[in-house]
Amino acid sequence: MSIKGRDIISALDLKREEVELLLNEAESMRNELKGRRCLHLADDRVVMTVFLEPSTRTRLSFQYAAAYLGARGIDFGATEMSSIQKGETFEDTVTMVDGYGPDVIVLRQSVPGNAKRAAEIARAPVINAGDGANEHPTQALTDVYTIRREIGRLNGVKVGIMGDLKHGRTVSSLSYMLDRFDGNSITYIAPDELQVRPEVVSGLTRTKHSKAERVEDVIEELDVLYVTRIQKERFTDQKEYERLKGSYVISRGFLEKFRRRPIIMHPLPRVDELTVDVDGMKEAKYFEQAKNGVYVRMALLKEVMG
Ligand code: NCD
Repeated sequence: MSIKGRDIISALDLKREEVELLLNEAESMRNELKGRRCLHLADDRVVMTVFLEPSTRTRLSFQYAAAYLGARGIDFGATEMSSIQKGETFEDTVTMVDGYGPDVIVLRQSVPGNAKRAAEIARAPVINAGDGANEHPTQALTDVYTIRREIGRLNGVKVGIMGDLKHGRTVSSLSYMLDRFDGNSITYIAPDELQVRPEVVSGLTRTKHSKAERVEDVIEELDVLYVTRIQKERFTDQKEYERLKGSYVISRGFLEKFRRRPIIMHPLPRVDELTVDVDGMKEAKYFEQAKNGVYVRMALLKEVMG
């Protein structure tokens, strides 16, 4: 089995054994990094990060991952400063970037399907770091790594995914990633307007899934509550966003009403849906989750670059 040279566009591009290999490797890199700044596993390599949509965690964790591997990270920079401003097409931008000879291109942009398009154009392998509302496979790897560390297993886990399930790319990728394992269940918690896209649930083969409108009805049954932000930038009607943005708020006061509480995850950034008073609770795992992204991306970069 080899991931070398492969494009990672969807969570479905990775088989269960490959996911397990990456998670194990992430764990050993985490241990090896204790007290060290660099593992020198990719000293002569170049990782090109191209983020044409806003990003903090994903961009930085890829850049740190490259640095800790000993690879050089080169960043495309802000779109406002690039020739995209002058009207350069996406295809030309990808051809250009690829022409410099990076060992891998990490790409985020807003058009669903354009990560795949880039992979068709580029010689270098492309890792999808988010293509619009479609997918975010490396976040899903980070998420299952966090679940495995916190819950101790990746089979038979009960996960509630809450918030903007319609526009959230972390939602589809996490669903597909959980479906690589056995006996998991997903409860999609959202108002009707923001429920999960039909193609996501129809893609699930092993995972039991159900929908709920009220989080209080299901929370005590969950091992993990995965909270997501209402994706303001994906709404065509901003009035609709204003109406739905306060649909759910997870606060300490809310969580303390329940006898049995799941761990709380969130891909971040959070806006109104998760209050800061949750941060001090033992169930809060989202900052740890963000940190985990570095180790997982180290493992993925190393394997893809070979
Ligand atoms: C997510 C994203 O960009 O899809 N953030 C991330 O990568 N950690 C979630 C979000 O923006 O809501």
